[in-house]
Amino acid sequence: MKTAVTLFGLVGSAAAAGMAELKALKMQTWAAQNEAGVYDIDRYAAQAATKCVNGKAGEYQCKNVDLVSFLRHQDMGSSTRKGNDIWGWTSPDGREFGAVGQTDGTAFVEVKSDGSLVYLGRLPTQTTSSSWRDMKVIGNHVYIGAESSNHGMQVFDMTKLLTINPSSPKSFNTGSDLTARFSGFGSSHNIVAHEETKMIYAVGTASSAGCRGGLFMVNVTNPATPTSAGCLSAGGYVHDAQCVIYKGPDSRYTNKEICFNFNEDTLDIVDVTNKKSPTTLSSTKYNGAAYTHQGWLADSNMRYLLLDDELDEQEKKGVAANQRTTTYIVDVASLTAPKFTGTYQSPAKAIDHNQYVLNGLSYQANYGSGLRIINVKSLSSDPTGKGITEVGFFDCHPEDDSVGGKAEFVGTWSVYPYFKSGYILLNSIERGVYSLKYTGPL
Ligand SMILES: *[C@@H]1O[C@H](CO)[C@@H](O)[C@H](O)[C@H]1NC(C)=O
Repeated sequence: MKTAVTLFGLVGSAAAAGMAELKALKMQTWAAQNEAGVYDIDRYAAQAATKCVNGKAGEYQCKNVDLVSFLRHQDMGSSTRKGNDIWGWTSPDGREFGAVGQTDGTAFVEVKSDGSLVYLGRLPTQTTSSSWRDMKVIGNHVYIGAESSNHGMQVFDMTKLLTINPSSPKSFNTGSDLTARFSGFGSSHNIVAHEETKMIYAVGTASSAGCRGGLFMVNVTNPATPTSAGCLSAGGYVHDAQCVIYKGPDSRYTNKEICFNFNEDTLDIVDVTNKKSPTTLSSTKYNGAAYTHQGWLADSNMRYLLLDDELDEQEKKGVAANQRTTTYIVDVASLTAPKFTGTYQSPAKAIDHNQYVLNGLSYQANYGSGLRIINVKSLSSDPTGKGITEVGFFDCHPEDDSVGGKAEFVGTWSVYPYFKSGYILLNSIERGVYSLKYTGPL
């Protein structure tokens, strides 16, 4: 990949160019994949529930994770058959649903009490298809953005799913079936939701939105009237963020609304309590940075943060030179002076994408090596990461198993691990959505 090497030279030196080059690189991969037929109709077979036994669940390598159910993108009404982000919603009476991102829209599935998936319908893209569609849930509504021009943000009421008869899945109307469509920005790369403050932070919005791709703040207290509340543009492009009401060790910021922003080449920590005048508390670089992508607080004490860099493996930077998926550990005891304290390396070669933490386990969607579950409870006694262990995995991309994995933009995009039932949703780019069950130690 000669061109790739040239492209990499630009990443990090010019933050805005970073995203453009990264996108070009991925599109190159996906165009080649398309040529190879990986998104073709009937390329993948439907699959029945399969337990993980002796390291395999059917064709998939696994450990402590069972395959409970699977739906192909073509089974969920997509004509592009290519997936991206995913999030979940639990109804007030406890039923569980997934909003499954696809390039041409969002498919809705129910996760039944036995973990099986039932397709209920879909909301098409507001404008054109795009490889990047991102959704998050606050209350009963899902908020959907895409890298499609003039897309804006779709606001869809998930309670509409409660009465659907699965024998006739519904194609929702992008006009009459929306609670609202927010048009304060056109395209966006990613949607960040803060449930406690009822705020959506759209990131990577187009320059025409006037926020330099930073936190574009939308107040969704009333989902029918989403309202611009402010913008953080000081740090430039934000790729992803986690926002919390802060309860961590830095008592100067107790109960403030703090966002941890993954800013292409830095971790930026921002106080967004005052939406009209957000304050950047720190902007921190680290060795090996290639594309600072996403991350999540590792513990409920808000002391440690896990950070994934999306290009260090492919670019063979720093400790990621061996191309094993590398997670950075940050001690954020001081919000004004965070410290990078170590790294964890997966046994598998792959690029990391999105990870979410629940009860001391981080559920990582690592492209070609699939879902990786790591136990991060040791961080409080050993912040170097040496005590982190892999407790389970499900590799949804068998194509690269024979060569021991590859650092490529294939396989899984994201994971949703927060259902009370314990079923985990994993969205794969090529194949479809998996309902998985972790059976290892908790
Ligand atoms: C969000 O909207 C609600 C309802 O209109 C309002 O009470 C609240 O102050 C707004 N919050 C912000 C941060 O703008």
